[in-house]
Amino acid sequence: MQNIQSYVQEHKDRFINELIELLKIPSVSADTAYKDDVIKTAEEIRKSLVSAGCSAVEICETPGYPIVYGEKIIDKNLPTVLVYGHYDVQPADPIELWDSPPFEPIIKNTDIHPDGAIFARGACDDKGQMYMHVKALEIMTQTNQLPCNIKFMIEGEEEVGSKSLSWFVERNQEKLSNDVILISDTGMIAKDVPSITTGLRGLSYVEVEVTGPNRDLHSGLYGGAVANPINILTKMIASLHDDNNHITVPGFYDKVENLSEEERAEMAKAPFSLESYKKALDIKAVYGEEGYTTNERNSIRPTLDVNGIWGGYTGEGAKTVIASKAYAKISMRLVPNQDWVEITELFKKHFESIAPDAVTVKVTPHHGGQGYVTPIDNIGYKAASKAYQDTFGKTPIPQRSGGSIPIVSLFEKELKSKTILMGFGLDSDAIHSPNEHFGVWNYLKGIETIPLFYKYFTELNK
Ligand code: BES
Ligand code: MN
Ligand code: MN
Repeated sequence: MQNIQSYVQEHKDRFINELIELLKIPSVSADTAYKDDVIKTAEEIRKSLVSAGCSAVEICETPGYPIVYGEKIIDKNLPTVLVYGHYDVQPADPIELWDSPPFEPIIKNTDIHPDGAIFARGACDDKGQMYMHVKALEIMTQTNQLPCNIKFMIEGEEEVGSKSLSWFVERNQEKLSNDVILISDTGMIAKDVPSITTGLRGLSYVEVEVTGPNRDLHSGLYGGAVANPINILTKMIASLHDDNNHITVPGFYDKVENLSEEERAEMAKAPFSLESYKKALDIKAVYGEEGYTTNERNSIRPTLDVNGIWGGYTGEGAKTVIASKAYAKISMRLVPNQDWVEITELFKKHFESIAPDAVTVKVTPHHGGQGYVTPIDNIGYKAASKAYQDTFGKTPIPQRSGGSIPIVSLFEKELKSKTILMGFGLDSDAIHSPNEHFGVWNYLKGIETIPLFYKYFTELNK
């Protein structure tokens, strides 16, 4: 497919500029202040699908943010690939830690990206990776080599739990019917180590509230005599891990799938340098569950982490006070077979049971989703593998990721199809963090690789 490479070379400046325009719209789904921008982004995606060659494109209204749907059906007897992506982004804060404004994209060179990287919120997660698919469609239609049918479903609520997408998928099974789902919303091991994501962790996200006295108190007059909710909360949280960093919630590990020694040995073959890992994060040592390697801890093992904790006085200077309430947001990353609803229940029961009588505790579930693992002995995986082989000159490594895209397990349940996760981001791209970026090289390489997936998927289906 030589002309794909030359098409990319010829049009790369425009491909980059189009993405930059998209990144200028702050489509933050978590914050209603950006509502109009989120909706505007959906409209821009719609236009881009039309110009890339989709014949039917619509903005589908939902109870929440719209879903952009488009398709190009060339022959009902050919296979159909459903592309999923999201146009919403994470909030940009803490904004003061960005070296350039999050919604004013700029291209800068870095050690890892000597050809430049686009810095902006959403550059990698997921506007940049999603847009690779729009451009791949453009190339296939412009060069007359779209080999099969294609459907696009781009949502605007991924970063807040994909509630409206579940609603949409449940109501549109026929419309969304496909032979394989293709997503670029994950990463790869390194620029010279292509990988295909074969697993995602599930998630249970909860908020806890600990209440002590009915009002904030003078810490001299009452200190020592009544429970301090912040002291109690931190003690309760500390007790959620034992000395080996195992999670202490009863029943938490009951359904965890244990990998065989062979599978673990296979995983350990993926190139990984603990020294570079520590260096990249400026840490002296790694930390985690006893008996597992770093790569196991962040992919095949479940976790429990506090994502935020607050209460009491945090303003300037000192205020002597015992707060009435303390709060925390806690996420649990889950592995296949652990059911997020069940885990949320187990957590709630346990957390309430460990609270001393001196306080009351409220646990409020936020959202969650199941994990996902995909086998590698299917046509979709093989097609992806061959595509990377062509453009990277190397067979990609299957890799289970620690991140979550909860909707993927729902796709399997409702649409009965497997998902192929072709991610082109790097862990160092700082998704969800200040200074998120996406390598120009990665962006263009993705655009080049995706059309080959279609080619091989269609061929292998014959
Ligand atoms: N694209 C990420 C998930 C991801 C990133 C998976 C890198 C694998 C590698 C996605 O946008 C995301 O951030 N998901 C959330 C969960 C969601 C329910 C908010 C996550 O993993 O925290
Ligand atoms: Mn994403
Ligand atoms: Mn994300």
